[in-house]
Amino acid sequence: MSTVLSASPSTSQASGVEAELNYLAPGDARPVNYTFEPPAGTPWNSGTSDPRRVRIHNARPLAEAGEISLHRNGFQLVSHRSALKDFSDDSLIRLVYRPEAEALLRDITGAEKVVIFDHTLRDSANGSRANASLREPVRRVHNDQTFVSGPRRVRDHLDAEEAERRLQHRFAIVNLWRPLGVVEQFPLALCDARSIAADDLVPTDLVYRDKTGETYSFLANPQHRWYYFPRLRPDEVLLLKIYDSLEDGTARLTAHTAFEDPDSPSNAAARRSIELRALLFWAPDHDTR
Ligand code: OGA
Ligand code: FE
Repeated sequence: MSTVLSASPSTSQASGVEAELNYLAPGDARPVNYTFEPPAGTPWNSGTSDPRRVRIHNARPLAEAGEISLHRNGFQLVSHRSALKDFSDDSLIRLVYRPEAEALLRDITGAEKVVIFDHTLRDSANGSRANASLREPVRRVHNDQTFVSGPRRVRDHLDAEEAERRLQHRFAIVNLWRPLGVVEQFPLALCDARSIAADDLVPTDLVYRDKTGETYSFLANPQHRWYYFPRLRPDEVLLLKIYDSLEDGTARLTAHTAFEDPDSPSNAAARRSIELRALLFWAPDHDTR
């Protein structure tokens, strides 16, 4: 059999790629980002972007060697096939996909209780920031919550008595990110939590129609070690640590962003994905070490 015509992985893909990531430029004003069309004269994002060319390492060899974990690095690859094949029906996402994801998160983390509080579909061809039901990839280095807004989520999604009780013990927020086709463009870059410094984090307002949340934007730091999983498949999901109440060296968050992949074929399929955000609560006696 001739192998001349078959595509072989490029050497850049084997070791990683170089690409531009949009950090936040240092500034005095608190950045404000909108989740919907802002009033006339107000920008979608008030901060100034600071694009930096960085090396983004192929995480697959490390993941295969068992050297990447959610609690050490802030992200993890998990093999998991969904029973749902068509993600166009929101009621089926709620009926089939959410319970399946909840069980998966419990199995992987040993959490006693998992509360999924939202999900987001993205499509690089048809999604937009202005369309709440079909968004576009996010091309800003960010983390979805802060050390202040993480605990707020517990009070938002549990009744008052349970929230106070659960806040006494370990809890976390984790995103579960799944591509809906092989990722050929705009993959997600993930930053090793151990390479992030406290000074890199910039609390940023995220304005919804009914409330204002708080996320982190990131200042550039040459220490950041970036990874991605080339050609992620729908039977592979990424877990992203967004918040962790532990302060013992466990990964508490991970900076992440979509990026323009220099290995993307010119006829690359649109990037389609679904992510959901979940609160994870561990039992009081759970050994978290
Ligand atoms: C996320 C996220 C962006 C994207 O899952 O938290 O930021 O482009 N996703 O998929
Ligand atoms: Fe995010």
